[in-house]
Amino acid sequence: MDKIVVLDFGSQYSHLICRRLREINVYCEVLPYNIPLSELKSNHPKGIILSGGPASVYSEKSPRPDNKIFDAGIPILGICYGHQLLVDHFGGKIKRTDRREYGRADLIIENKLDLFKNIDNEVIKCWMSHGDAAEVLPTGFKILAHTPSSSSAAVGNYQKGLYGLQFHPEVVHTEKGVEILKNFSQIISKAKPEWSMESFIEISISNIRKAIGKEERVLCAVSGGIDSTTVAALLKKAIGDKLCCVFVNHGLLRKNEEKKVVDLFKYMGIEVIYVNADKRFLEKLGGVKDPEKKRFIIGEEFADIFVEVAKKNGPFQWLAQGTLYPDVIESGVSGGPAAIIKTHHNVGGLPKWLNLKVIEPLSMLYKDEVRKTASLLGVPHDLLIRHPFPGPGLAVRIIGEVTPEKLRISRHASEIVETELQKADFYDKIWQAFAIVGDDKAVGVTGDERTYGHIVTIRVVDSIDAMTADWTRLPPELIERISNRITNEVENVAWVCYAVSSKPPATIEPQ
Ligand code: XMP
Repeated sequence: MDKIVVLDFGSQYSHLICRRLREINVYCEVLPYNIPLSELKSNHPKGIILSGGPASVYSEKSPRPDNKIFDAGIPILGICYGHQLLVDHFGGKIKRTDRREYGRADLIIENKLDLFKNIDNEVIKCWMSHGDAAEVLPTGFKILAHTPSSSSAAVGNYQKGLYGLQFHPEVVHTEKGVEILKNFSQIISKAKPEWSMESFIEISISNIRKAIGKEERVLCAVSGGIDSTTVAALLKKAIGDKLCCVFVNHGLLRKNEEKKVVDLFKYMGIEVIYVNADKRFLEKLGGVKDPEKKRFIIGEEFADIFVEVAKKNGPFQWLAQGTLYPDVIESGVSGGPAAIIKTHHNVGGLPKWLNLKVIEPLSMLYKDEVRKTASLLGVPHDLLIRHPFPGPGLAVRIIGEVTPEKLRISRHASEIVETELQKADFYDKIWQAFAIVGDDKAVGVTGDERTYGHIVTIRVVDSIDAMTADWTRLPPELIERISNRITNEVENVAWVCYAVSSKPPATIEPQ
């Protein structure tokens, strides 16, 4: 399949460029900025995009690509820092300007030959974010567009297929940005728009069949979440009964969740080994208050159970995992915040002596692409829109020791929160909503009786990717309704609080 490659110089927008191209059906991957030309060529890119980045080309430690890429005969589009690299490499001059530009600017298009083809407007709004600018252009380069403060906001060397943009075409604030990326990828680089979730399914089924030997079997742990369910659905289609799914009920699930997961897999025609291990987990968690310790115990217990299942139902040669693209990217510059989050969230690995090869069929997909794939594979809609739920389950939402009493309160109160949000048409608009319970208690009066009950905290947040999150400004009447139901219906709760902390500094889940 034709491919465009983004070389990542540390911009917050590198993945956004990649996603924009995939949205117009051009397959794209993000690679580290310093990949050697030989390795880059083995990827057969039709075009290269140099991302932006926080560095200045004239600073000593500025990240540089393999210089040979500039003369490899592959079309290049430099964006922001990438644009400055291009100009600098070919002998132009970059200078720190006294007119730094941040935010929207009017882009006056001077040349509509290739990069601005099919754009009718003479002026478009573009998104700028830079302090450096190209002062002198290299020979062979022409100005294609300018802004009132940037004389060379878009430049190009038509003969060599080299282009530079000072602004960011990938952000929504740039009008016609997608057209510009389309022109670079499809017209200049001649990359055919072949990427779709249908084509992804077809290719990955064929790859899975090639990878898994005739006599080999795959073990896949499912949680009922979108990623592992999609992996299972894809593998089932590719290798049928050579797939063995395992669902472990650790007793830390939401209300009725174990039944929902079992029913889901029955509906999809995928057999699952159901392991009910709630007592085992609760026993191990007894008396443990420290959140890190709780996560560790849960991870270890999971691994032990998988080993038992693998021994009993094996032999298996493969382990399937629902790793997604942002988790695997190792950006040459940024290291990727996703990597740090992942270690914090990882539920623990399997021992090496099991000797299982790992297959990660979704490792090239973004979350929204997983959702589309899931939908094409027949995963029910309810699951596609379900809020994320942590691997260690309610242990993360219970502060301090996990006890049956706290599990009951957290489960019941969370169900009330979810139901009321659904009724008020809020559930689909927010990232996550749940109830937290800890050891704090407060005095209340029920009927004529003085009671001493738990304090429940409701956490409702808006977020795009869970990296940052803000508390949702729910209507007070809705909060009141939820609070009343919880104190009336959930036994031993005296107070209900609403969490108004944002991430960072607060995380979404408290433990
Ligand atoms: P935090 O607590 O880091 O949560 O603000 C961010 C998002 O990740 C989910 N989360 C987890 N997911 N294993 C997971 O698979 C975990 O251990 C875990 N902890 C948090 C959380 O639900 C939120 O959506």
